[in-house]
Amino acid sequence: MMTGKQLVEKYLSFFKEKKHAIIPSASLVPENDPTVLFTAAGMHPLVPYLLGQPHPLGKRLASNQKCVRTGDIEEVGNASHLTFFFMLGNWSLGDYFKKEAISWSYEFLTSKKWLGLDKNKIFVTCFAGDKDAPRDEESAKIWQECKIPKEKIFFNAKEENWWGPAGKTGPCGPDTEMFYDTGKKKCGKNCRPGCSCGKYFEIWNNVFMQYNKTAEGKFELLKQKNVDTGMGVERTITMLQGKKSVYETELFKPAIDEIAKLSKNKNEKSMRIIADHLRAASFILSEEKGIVPSNVEQGYILRRLIRRAVRNARLLGIEGKFCSSIAKIFVKIYSNEWPQLKNQEQAICLELDKEEEKFSKALAQGTKEFEKLFKQNNGKITAKEAFLLYQSSGFPLEMTIDLAKEKGLDINKKEFEKEFEKHQALSRKGSEQKFKSGLQDNSIETTKLHTATHLLHSALRKILGPYVQQKGSNITPERLRFDFSNPDKLTDAQLKEVEKIVNEAIQKEIPVQREEMSLEEARKKGALAFFESKYAPEKVSVYTINSFSKEVCTGPHVKNTSELGKFKILKEESVSAGIRRIKAILEK
Ligand code: ALA
Repeated sequence: MMTGKQLVEKYLSFFKEKKHAIIPSASLVPENDPTVLFTAAGMHPLVPYLLGQPHPLGKRLASNQKCVRTGDIEEVGNASHLTFFFMLGNWSLGDYFKKEAISWSYEFLTSKKWLGLDKNKIFVTCFAGDKDAPRDEESAKIWQECKIPKEKIFFNAKEENWWGPAGKTGPCGPDTEMFYDTGKKKCGKNCRPGCSCGKYFEIWNNVFMQYNKTAEGKFELLKQKNVDTGMGVERTITMLQGKKSVYETELFKPAIDEIAKLSKNKNEKSMRIIADHLRAASFILSEEKGIVPSNVEQGYILRRLIRRAVRNARLLGIEGKFCSSIAKIFVKIYSNEWPQLKNQEQAICLELDKEEEKFSKALAQGTKEFEKLFKQNNGKITAKEAFLLYQSSGFPLEMTIDLAKEKGLDINKKEFEKEFEKHQALSRKGSEQKFKSGLQDNSIETTKLHTATHLLHSALRKILGPYVQQKGSNITPERLRFDFSNPDKLTDAQLKEVEKIVNEAIQKEIPVQREEMSLEEARKKGALAFFESKYAPEKVSVYTINSFSKEVCTGPHVKNTSELGKFKILKEESVSAGIRRIKAILEK
């Protein structure tokens, strides 16, 4: 029986044989990505390269990428939806296209040397065509050449067979998806690949990324034709092992068994939610970026995952602290392949314990208040009351909605969310939106701010000292936000000086140069590099701005600092002990 680990090894060896460079998984917390809170697909860290920037390791890449996707969080608990998962992928950056991608997929799936799946059970779907792009007859033809008969090839519209952009703009294209027939009976006349009944198991998606969606909603042809693929590890081994759900595989079973042991009531869905959410939380907490539960951005999502796990545990009758005991099981499952999980075990458990305790208190208090309100209102609860409940005892909206649903109330979620939005700070609203989507934009504005971030980083080191290190960066088209290590608040004079240095670099009209080299060489040349060294790639890009700045970075950047405009710091504040944050803009 093939394990998850073996599947990953096979996949990467296969693509190595096909001359792909194996790249390490990028961090779950994207660095310098303006638009996503978490890496949600293997292609996210590769966006600049899909748009045409050369990758230091060449035009053929493959990886096993850690991903977090929370858009479908409500689905978690069914057989295959996960908020955290591993995605295997292979990429062509303007190199091979449909012919190779499809025939290699077919070879990997069916060859005895690789997965050895029964070719008669494979079904595929292709893009049906519309005003933006033609029907993908080319892919269908290649499938037929691979001996997939016509009647097993289905065509679908954009909703099904188009991938990306993950946000508003960016690379995208038609895709072809592969399914495996599990042998189950059709659920009805219209049952076909893509149906959610479970007969057809989705294994792999090949995206032919040759378009860029613009802010105006147009689909322009990209400079290069790319391939972007994704195969979910957990899902695929479930199918290979003939299991009914991902939770029965070795990647989850020990955790599910432990949860079942602790539970008084055996509600399968709740047990699965706990396992999924705590696995996701453990991996997020193990990241070097130091994400902890909070009310904004990544921290908010992490908080929500832990709190949903705790809430479901209460439904199962699990009382008292339990999160860290489940996290430890995942640490054990993954410690060989992901040593950072083991290294961070204590920190993971500590944060889980803290959040669990905090939330247990809020939960007890909030549930009491909910019951009181419910009685007072003769079995109703309004959006306004839900908000007041949140305000008074930190009782989350989704918990109120869950409780109301358990009482058989028909809740209009949108209306409740609107009420919350009215009262919430912008940052929270942003988090909710990002919770759903991925990349928003890779506009020239964000690129400019990215280059300005490098200048800011080096200016801070000049003024405060070389111990200053980047701790996080987040860029939107409107502003940059830079977190860095420094024990004290910066004085006004220091901030003025930092601004001055950055603006001088802009006025000097310095070209931004990109070079490729090994990480070791980059370090020798004095380039700043904040990497999880164990996973560092063989070759990296180094961006140099004269003597001002030298950093290892994936880009993109402007060509010359003269493009930036005037740099202005808006705010300097504390994020946590020893970490400061600067928000800044570029004025035209
Ligand atoms: N980016 C594609 C996906 O995530 C491959 O499905």
